[in-house]
Amino acid sequence: MDEKIAKILAGLEEINKAGGQWNISHETGQFLHDLIIEKKPELIVEIGASNGYSTIWLAMAARKINAKIITFEFVPEKVRDLVSNLQKSGLIKYVQIIPDDANKRLGELSEKVDFVFLDGRKNEYLQQLKLLEPKLNSNAIIVADNAISHKHVLEDYLYYVTNEPKYRSELKDIGTGLEISMLGY
Ligand SMILES: C[S@@+](CC[C@H](N)C(=O)[O-])C[C@H]1O[C@@H](n2cnc3c(N)ncnc32)[C@H](O)[C@@H]1O
Repeated sequence: MDEKIAKILAGLEEINKAGGQWNISHETGQFLHDLIIEKKPELIVEIGASNGYSTIWLAMAARKINAKIITFEFVPEKVRDLVSNLQKSGLIKYVQIIPDDANKRLGELSEKVDFVFLDGRKNEYLQQLKLLEPKLNSNAIIVADNAISHKHVLEDYLYYVTNEPKYRSELKDIGTGLEISMLGY
């Protein structure tokens, strides 16, 4: 990893330890990065960027495979930090930031989506997946964070992806738990 980015990530990990950002763990970031390199999605959608810790991991992978990220974050102070952290990392050109409520804007996506990272409000994952479904490529991958830490709030989402035959879905005990659901397996 680029030394400058490693330092930025380490700094954000310190801020996260102090509280308030709810960033993914380093291990989760590395996992998402490696999964993207392996699957080579062209368009990645993230819901809930916060200050950009997870977005940096996604964008490091996007840079390697020439993919594009669209990320949603609706808290203005977080958007400010997100922009600043992506600029400092030299990764901003891989990311389109939509500083608004994903639930209002997902319907506007005009390109097909290959990879989704859900990390906004936990009780909205299912609604967001349903909004995204018409836009998913036939072999899309959806990764939902907090599948262990918030398994009760995610009950409807987890029931859907594990019972809907079009998905193959598995839970990974990484960070706070990742539910990985694949279409066209
Ligand atoms: C758990 S934090 C995201 C952490 C980030 N993914 C990371 O690991 O670095 C959730 C973020 O989602 C944002 N959020 C929640 N619901 C949203 C929505 N519907 N649209 C846009 N942003 C949303 C919140 O403002 C918050 O910053």
